[in-house]
Amino acid sequence: MSDVLAPLDVFQPPKPLRAKLITLGCQMNVYDSHILATELARIGYRETDQYDDADLVVVNTCAVREKPAEKLRSLLGLLNQQRKKRPMKIALAGCLMQLQGSEFQEKFHIDYVTGPGSITELPKLIQAGQGTSLEFIDSLADYVAPPQMSLAAHLTIIRGCDHACTYCIVPRTRGPQVSRPPEKILEEAYALRKAGVLEVTLLGQNVNAYGKDVPGYPSFAQVLRQIGKIFPRVRFLTNHPKDFTAEVIQAIAETPTVCRHLHLPVQSGSDQVLKDMNREYTAQQFIHAAQLARKALPGCSVTTDLIAGFPTETEEDFQATLALVDQVGFDASFTFIYSPRPGTPAGALPDLPQEVKTERLMRLIDQCKAWSLKRNQARVGQVLEVLVTDERKGDGTSQGYCRENIPVVVGEDLDPGIYQVQIGRAAPQLLFGAVLHDL
Ligand code: SAH
Ligand code: SF4
Ligand code: F3S
Repeated sequence: MSDVLAPLDVFQPPKPLRAKLITLGCQMNVYDSHILATELARIGYRETDQYDDADLVVVNTCAVREKPAEKLRSLLGLLNQQRKKRPMKIALAGCLMQLQGSEFQEKFHIDYVTGPGSITELPKLIQAGQGTSLEFIDSLADYVAPPQMSLAAHLTIIRGCDHACTYCIVPRTRGPQVSRPPEKILEEAYALRKAGVLEVTLLGQNVNAYGKDVPGYPSFAQVLRQIGKIFPRVRFLTNHPKDFTAEVIQAIAETPTVCRHLHLPVQSGSDQVLKDMNREYTAQQFIHAAQLARKALPGCSVTTDLIAGFPTETEEDFQATLALVDQVGFDASFTFIYSPRPGTPAGALPDLPQEVKTERLMRLIDQCKAWSLKRNQARVGQVLEVLVTDERKGDGTSQGYCRENIPVVVGEDLDPGIYQVQIGRAAPQLLFGAVLHDL
């Protein structure tokens, strides 16, 4: 081996490696993509927002419905076209890989594959030249992610899910529930605050279950109170109604920094369908919980997830869902058409005809939209605290969202930050207002 250095005139500084990250799926994946970016930076990759100069493209995938899987397939088709023109590595991470990693690896010639429990293994795979890692790495719960460069940040407090909703693939993709050690959560929270984060969203498939898997850990309500001391705004996502407790309502009521917004996914208003979904609550119990929250937390917005066209859902069951929507009057609703997931108990049942599912979804959307408009109209005239996160758009308007989690458009070019905004007009998913400047 020769140890001779290259002559100076031919010496080229190494070109920095560039990685383009694409995130499909929920906020848990957005948080995990931040960990992926951190790990890639450790081995010399800088993030780029373009495909053209990327040496590596990483897609963090989602398996919850068929749509994100279709999106991934078409994206990979395009990337493989690009790869014919110039060398580029592809890494796939996340939920869908936990189920179909090897299938995708073969079919689309993927270089590296990791699951949601092994994202920190990506550098090892890259250094090895290729490979797959789908174990659930214990140390992931201890991983303290460096601050996200944003006024609003995510903080995962619990990974996985111990529920067994019959339609849902998530427990198979993300494994059983693992609460992160409280001291790691606090360490990460203080670092975020120090970096200028104003709003933190505590994340988990079911944050209310926090601590139940480890004796001696605090309850979710206790975590909420602690984190509430650190940030001006705290929110949390998402909650299983069965685990939602009066203790949590109390913690929100007594911690002014915790936003008065509850995302309580109901899925259906029919007791039979709820039973078939294995949700472990009745429509009445849900309505009671929502009413309790609204009473204890004046102004609180209550939002939900709803599924139209579950295999056993009859027209009568669907009517019960519409009736529940009317009884609760959600501030915002995420409505989904049922998507059979192979390997789930419901996935083995005969699917309803597509046109029945679509027609129900349309009716559901109309009704939810009408309630969102009604709830938003009741906020006209109120002064709400709006967090503007985006850089100036330069078109004379700014967009942010209030504590109740409704997007708000302000007719003024604002720097990112928190503003008091008087609401002047409402649309179903949007409020419009003007900033109240200090006199
Ligand atoms: N852990 C969260 C849900 C995560 S998945 C919770 O229990 O609330 C987000 C939403 O996707 C669910 O609330 C549900 O409404 C929807 N969803 C999950 N599986 C689905 C499927 N197979 N078809 C259609 N929607 C689904
Ligand atoms: Fe899926 Fe149910 Fe767990 Fe939510 S609680 S992630 S819907 S199994
Ligand atoms: Fe989230 Fe999709 Fe996984 S919704 S938990 S990224 S299956």
